[in-house]
Amino acid sequence: MTEAVLLVGGQGTRLRPLTMETPKPMLPVAGVPVTEHQIARAREAGVTRIILGTSYRAEVFEEYFGDGARFGVELVYVTEEEPLGTGGAIRNVADYLQSGPDDPVLIFNGDVLSGVDLRGLVNRHTSDDCAVTLYLTRVEDPRPYGLVPTNAQGWVTGFLEKPTSPEEIVTDQINAGAYVFRRSVIDQIPPGRVVSVEREIFPALVADGARVAGHVDNGYWLDLGTPMDFVRGSCDLVLGVAPSPALPGPIGESLVLAGARVGEGAVISHGSVVAAGAVVEPGAVVAGSVIMANAFIAAGAKVYGSVIADGAHISSGASLHGVVVGPRAVVGALNELREGARVWPDTRLADLSVRFSSDR
Ligand code: GDD
Ligand code: MG
Repeated sequence: MTEAVLLVGGQGTRLRPLTMETPKPMLPVAGVPVTEHQIARAREAGVTRIILGTSYRAEVFEEYFGDGARFGVELVYVTEEEPLGTGGAIRNVADYLQSGPDDPVLIFNGDVLSGVDLRGLVNRHTSDDCAVTLYLTRVEDPRPYGLVPTNAQGWVTGFLEKPTSPEEIVTDQINAGAYVFRRSVIDQIPPGRVVSVEREIFPALVADGARVAGHVDNGYWLDLGTPMDFVRGSCDLVLGVAPSPALPGPIGESLVLAGARVGEGAVISHGSVVAAGAVVEPGAVVAGSVIMANAFIAAGAKVYGSVIADGAHISSGASLHGVVVGPRAVVGALNELREGARVWPDTRLADLSVRFSSDR
C-alpha cells in the first residue's frame, strides 16, 4: 500500500495572526484541522501510513493526532530543527519510509483542499513508469503558484515557481501541491540542507530528461494560504462544495458544532461554522465565516466573510467584513472593520458610542 508524506512545517506567515500560535495545517476548517481532512482523504484512497514532516510548532500535531489510530492510519512524526524547505523536508523523512526503491510515495502540501482522485494519480504514475507525477490544476491567475507547462503527451516541460516577469507566464496550469515520487528519487535529493522541491528539484529533473508527468484534474482545488482563501475553504466544506470524509456533521448552510450556543433568531449562513464553546447571541448575523472555539458574537453584531479566532469577543453592533480577529481580541461595540483588517491577539478595540461609517 502506498505511503504518504504530509509537509506541514511552513510558518504560514500570510495567515497571521491565526498562525502565531497554531501552525496553518492545524487551523480548523469546517470544525477540524486542515490536516485531518487531508488524512481522511488519503485514508479513503487506501493510504495506511503517513509521515508528517514538521518544523514550526511541531508538538501541536502529535498532541492532537497521536499515533493516528483514532484516524485509522499509522502516523510518524519527523521534525526539522531548522526548516529545510519543501525538498529538504521530503529528503529528511526518507529514513522513515518503508517503501522499496521503485515504489510510489504520495507527497502532499499541508494546506490544500482538493477532490483529486488519488488512486488515479498513483495509477497514472505507475502505469507510465514516472520518476515523479505532479497533480496539476488550472487557475485564472497562476502567478502566486508554481507554473507547470506540459506537452501534448502530458509530460512536464518546465517548472516556474512564482514567476515575476510576464514572459514566464507560459501556462495557466499550476502545481496543485500533491505529487507521487518514485521512492529512489526521494533518496537522490541532497540531504542535510535547505532544498526547494519547486525551485531546485523539479526544474533539475525536467532539465535531465527524467520522466515527470503532469496529471491535470479540474475538480475542486484550493490553497488555504491567505485569510480569505481559508474562510472560503471552510465554507466550501460546510456547503459540500469541497469533499471531505472528515466533516463533523451533515453538509448544509451552516455547521454548528456540539457545545456551541446559538441564540434564537441568530442567522448563521453561507457555510459558516460555529465551534464548540462559541456563543452567537440572538439577533447576531454570521455569514460565510469561521467562528472558532469559545468566541463570542454579541446580539446585533454582524460578521461576514471573516475569521473570529479562539476566545475573541465581538461586541454588540460591531460590523465585520472580510477581516481576521486574532485569539482573545475584543472588538468593541459599533466598530466597523473592513476587508483586510487584522486584529492582533489579545488587543482591544474600545467601544464606540456612534458608528463611524464611510457609507452611512
Ligand atoms: N516540513 C516542512 N519544512 N514543510 C514546509 C517547509 C519546510 O521548511 N516549507 C514549507 N513547508 C510546507 C508548508 O507547511 C505547506 O504545507 C507546503 O510545504 C507548501 O508551502 P507553502 O508555503 O504553502 O507554499 P505555497 O502555497 O506558496 O506554494 C506551494 O504550493 C502551491 C500550491 O498550493 C508550491 O508548491 C507551489 O508550486 C504550488 O503551486
Ligand atoms: Mg500554500
